[in-house]
Amino acid sequence: MLPGSLQDEITLPDGTAVLVRPITPADAGALVALHARLSADTIYRRYFGARPHLSPADVDRFTRIEGRARFALVAARGTDLVAVTRYEGRPGETSAELAVVVDDALQRQGVGRLLLGRLFDVARVAGQEVLVADVMAGNAGMLGLLRRLALPGRRESDGDTVTITFDLTALELPPDRADRARGHLARAGVDVPPS
Ligand SMILES: CC(C)(COP(=O)(O)OP(=O)(O)OC[C@H]1O[C@@H](n2cnc3c(N)ncnc32)[C@H](O)[C@@H]1OP(=O)(O)O)[C@@H](O)C(=O)NCCC(=O)NCCS
Repeated sequence: MLPGSLQDEITLPDGTAVLVRPITPADAGALVALHARLSADTIYRRYFGARPHLSPADVDRFTRIEGRARFALVAARGTDLVAVTRYEGRPGETSAELAVVVDDALQRQGVGRLLLGRLFDVARVAGQEVLVADVMAGNAGMLGLLRRLALPGRRESDGDTVTITFDLTALELPPDRADRARGHLARAGVDVPPS
């Protein structure tokens, strides 16, 4: 079976399944709808400020994968998006910034951890060496989630923001996780070197 045809699902505590897949431009409407459902607090923690609407330019950028430099995974229930995680770097560089957001109604059910874990695997397979997370110092949820991932990371803080720098070269992927990550990259049409 080609890696791109593998299906990736997360099962929620209530037993329902959520599909994990790369974002596509066809998700534009669903991304706008997810943003419209987010609480002001969730938006503030994700974007470091108020952002009542996503601009058309944001939606365009957020729904386009760019080779190995910019990638996003979504958790989808039917045509609805319930979570998005992304990394973004510059083409040709091996360092990128990460972000994640989960629909308020589904927070604290394991979606963020499972989705972000997969994003780390994708970044590793895509050849990223460093992922950086900028987190508001009071964002206990994100800081807890990053701790829970238990990956080696350097932590710095200027008081308002905690910056955690993860060294992906230290991440040894078991074959099943590497295959799953390759599947996501293949589905998005991103070429990666053979393992
Ligand atoms: C941060 C966020 C992504 C976490 O996603 P989530 O799906 O709710 O988190 P999970 O259920 O996967 O939690 C994983 C672990 O993170 C920690 N955690 C998550 N939410 C937490 C909270 N509110 N307080 C403390 N720890 C928390 C816990 O250790 C948790 O494991 P446990 O439930 O077994 O104890 C989500 O709350 C969110 O979208 N927040 C707003 C946007 C944001 O802050 N984005 C990050 C900006 S870079």
